[in-house]
Amino acid sequence: MNLPQSVTIVEVGPRDGLQNEPNTVPTEVKLEYIRLLAESGLSVIEATSFVSPKWVPQLADAEQVMLQLPRREGLRYSVLVPNLKGLERALQAGAQEVAIFTAASETFCQRNLNRTIQQSLDEYAQVVRHAREANCRVRAYISTALVCPYEGDIAPEQVVPIVEQLMAMGVDEISLGDTIGAGVPTQVARLTEAVLQKVPAHQIAYHFHNTYGTALANVLTALQMGITVFDSSAGGLGGCPFAPGATGNLATEDLVYILHKMGIQTGVNLEAIVSAGRYILGVLNRATPPSHYLQAISPCAVPKSADVW
Ligand code: HMG
Ligand code: MG
Repeated sequence: MNLPQSVTIVEVGPRDGLQNEPNTVPTEVKLEYIRLLAESGLSVIEATSFVSPKWVPQLADAEQVMLQLPRREGLRYSVLVPNLKGLERALQAGAQEVAIFTAASETFCQRNLNRTIQQSLDEYAQVVRHAREANCRVRAYISTALVCPYEGDIAPEQVVPIVEQLMAMGVDEISLGDTIGAGVPTQVARLTEAVLQKVPAHQIAYHFHNTYGTALANVLTALQMGITVFDSSAGGLGGCPFAPGATGNLATEDLVYILHKMGIQTGVNLEAIVSAGRYILGVLNRATPPSHYLQAISPCAVPKSADVW
């Protein structure tokens, strides 16, 4: 198998994992979740989101979260921004990396950002310029890069022109999002092949949700094509309020388990990720963890023979 020696995991639990939670999660809980994640050796955590608090009330405390983030050498924090106003708030709160987000499907872009794809890109050109002037790293998501909840399957030809515009703006990395977790490896292979014509592999990431259980198969496909950055969420939480039908992100513990067992380094301690995942699932009262690894290691997952007989 053609596999890399190491992979970078972008932990999106505090942002993607929590943004869809119906009940307000207290700021202290978010900070404790981030503290546990920071201890695991992760090198990138997406901490929060400077979107409109009217659109995503759960992350209205972005400023408070940013001010109290635990700092550790080798760990950088990224935050989501949807527009210039979001960038201004993020920079004021001390952000050194921002993530902009658009979509490959017009309908989803409209529902998520209240803008057409081109309108979002036009504003992002200014966002990227200002971010660069502030020495801020910029990551860009393209949501619905494989499947859209409104328009169905998305062809690579719809994604590539957006990739080209984002690269021309000077973004550092493009994360291709399977927003509703419905994509399959053949789609990932076709998209990766097309995007690699325009962008070096080290600037491409994948962001798989796991609604249909295809995320790890998709990771393996992308890995074999040279992609080494993957987004995931400890505990397997996640979803977008504007993407009906989407469940959680690929769980970080499931990703770390498979990578380590295949001999691929991540720099992440699996037990520490488990602690973070268990903490947040416990607070949210989630009896059945969305992650396979947590289910497998739960004390009652494999009944002892005495319990059975
Ligand atoms: P809009 O209503 O069109 O905004 O929303 P507007 O520009 O007309 O402004 C309306 C009001 O909102 C104004 O205030 C603005 O100042 C304020 P008013 O004058 O009425 O008092 N406003 C803001 N306030 C705080 N922070 C801001 C901000 N911007 C405007 N940044 C907008 C447009 C883009 C703001 C809105 O659509 C929005 O926030 N959308 C974000 C939706 C979202 O967060 N979705 C989930 C994240 S994306 C995702 O999950 C996918 C991903 O995980 C990858 C994948 O899975 O594929 C990344
Ligand atoms: Mg997502």
